[in-house]
Amino acid sequence: MTESSNSIDWPNCETPLDAVTEDNQILEDQIVQILDSMSLEQKAGQMIQAEINSITPQAAGDHAIGSILNGGGSFPFGNKHASVSDWLELADSFHRESLNRAGHAVPIIWATDAVHGHNNVYTATMFPHNIGLGATRNFDLMREIAAATARDVVATGIAWTFAPTMAVPLDLRWGRSYEGFSEDPTVVARCAEAVIVGLQGTVSESSFLSGDKVLATSKHFVGEGGTTNGQDQGDTICGEAELRHVHSLGHVAALRAGAQVVMAAFNSWNGHRLHAHRYLLTDVLKGDIGFSGFVVSDWDGFSHVHTDLTRAIVDSVNAGVDMLMVSEGWNDVLNRLVRSIQSGEISQERVDDSVRRILRVKARASRLSPQLPSERSQAAMLRTLGSHKSIAQRAVRESLVLLKNEDGTLPIATNARVLVCGDCADDVGRQCGGWSLTWQGTDNTNEDFPHGSTLYDGIRERVENGGGSVELSTTGQYSTRPDIAIVAFGEKPYAEGEGDLADINFSRQFSEPLQVLRRLRADNIPTVSVLFTGRPLWVNPELNASSSFVVAWLPGTEGSAMADVLFADSDGTRRFDFAGRLSFSWPRRANQARFEDRERDPLFALGYGLSVSESPELGQLSEEEQDGDS
Ligand code: BGC
Ligand code: BGC
Repeated sequence: MTESSNSIDWPNCETPLDAVTEDNQILEDQIVQILDSMSLEQKAGQMIQAEINSITPQAAGDHAIGSILNGGGSFPFGNKHASVSDWLELADSFHRESLNRAGHAVPIIWATDAVHGHNNVYTATMFPHNIGLGATRNFDLMREIAAATARDVVATGIAWTFAPTMAVPLDLRWGRSYEGFSEDPTVVARCAEAVIVGLQGTVSESSFLSGDKVLATSKHFVGEGGTTNGQDQGDTICGEAELRHVHSLGHVAALRAGAQVVMAAFNSWNGHRLHAHRYLLTDVLKGDIGFSGFVVSDWDGFSHVHTDLTRAIVDSVNAGVDMLMVSEGWNDVLNRLVRSIQSGEISQERVDDSVRRILRVKARASRLSPQLPSERSQAAMLRTLGSHKSIAQRAVRESLVLLKNEDGTLPIATNARVLVCGDCADDVGRQCGGWSLTWQGTDNTNEDFPHGSTLYDGIRERVENGGGSVELSTTGQYSTRPDIAIVAFGEKPYAEGEGDLADINFSRQFSEPLQVLRRLRADNIPTVSVLFTGRPLWVNPELNASSSFVVAWLPGTEGSAMADVLFADSDGTRRFDFAGRLSFSWPRRANQARFEDRERDPLFALGYGLSVSESPELGQLSEEEQDGDS
């Protein structure tokens, strides 16, 4: 890897944890002592992270496995509705078994994708996805959300979350756009700091990583938002300056705030896979930046770097990956790792460095102690699952972006006759999107979110209390002529590459909402469109056909809070205004998926978002379809 160019100045991000102090020295001495007591096999075991469905607690203990994870849609005992005590029971048994061996036993740590709340867990509050949080620009609120998420994670016995995502999504066709806070790297950096502090606590304070805090992950390092055509796991072709000043800004902020884990990215940089990129993972991240935590691979990400699995493991570890996340077949990966160390293809120094980093992070998180996960949860008195409604409701309200506001439709009077239509109006799963109980966010019903509420729930409550009436009809047919129609539509849930698009023309994928809107318009019924989406899309026809247009992003389980903003109070006054401002520029044309095409001539620029008292004339927008980007 020879991209190194000395003109790029990578900032040192060391924190007080790296300072030469007596306390830090005691911790380092303890680590060396443990390291010296470990066999080669035990060291290699620490470098493996296995999926909970592919390993038993006993096998994990026997092999000194360093970590486990539950992938998206993976639950204790295969039960989607597993209770908090189920999660704790499994966490405890992995922990117990990891202590159950000779010499210095090192407790195992469990990681999960708590990316918008503790979203794999039944009854957890799910917050808006990052794109919605970016629209709030409310960094204090993000810190609170992250702190609430950390409590939920600790309550289930889990030590570590694979969040936040530091991506700077530059092409809207990318299926992970919604995991990014913004296309503006400076916004991403501010969000990064807030979320890291919320999850882990403040580095310089004694509460750091104690009690109800969890380890955070700065992911994915680096450049994943810049791949050609927005292809997931693709190639980001750019100079080192762009890598540093665009794609790394969030990581730098996260590391300065004390992020302890970095996840390597699936993508390549100028044709070289990140998982095998020694310059970026070792020279830059561990060298210039001074990162003293550990690098975890992405889901089997190490195996993508070479067709021969052993070579792939060797290349990844030698490049700087410290822990291998293995979906299945951990035993095979472990054996190959051990043999590669024995043969000298991976040096003893490299292994010691990895294990030292892993032990260091466990020690900093007070996870070398024998305290059971359930004891930790009880000590922090955590009864928190499902209890973060009011924080989530605030986030939902503040994330709504008003793009069009005509015909005096907003705010809606609570004594109006309201028609609610569109297939997103009464569906928590559509509000939540991907990474919600299941990996893709599909195969969920409202019953899977017992504490959740839908947009329709919120509308019904307001209108019923305000003397109006409400009719729900997905297709927009009504029995009583309404004063106003709220039309809720959007993307179907997806995660990762499943969400990659050929183009960003919404109605080419979903034609029904436009038909509904046009029918209502023909009937002279004013409409408020509410779009559920993981990214800006080309919706000129839908904008033209709507009186008002609100972007709700993927608001999560507290959908009823949207009604707080859409409706006036019963006395006609307003409590909440639209506060969301675009954290991505909005395309004017269907061929503006790419940031550089959009930025020059966006329909709505970054930062756009109306207040309810503003109603600029949008005029008739061009509905001419152009082909997608070439
Ligand atoms: C994703 C990561 C995630 C991991 C574990 C991967 O496919 O890229 O973001 O943390 O799976 O679920
Ligand atoms: C897992 C996810 C993971 C994905 C990667 C899924 O089966 O549940 O956690 O990110 O595979 O492809």
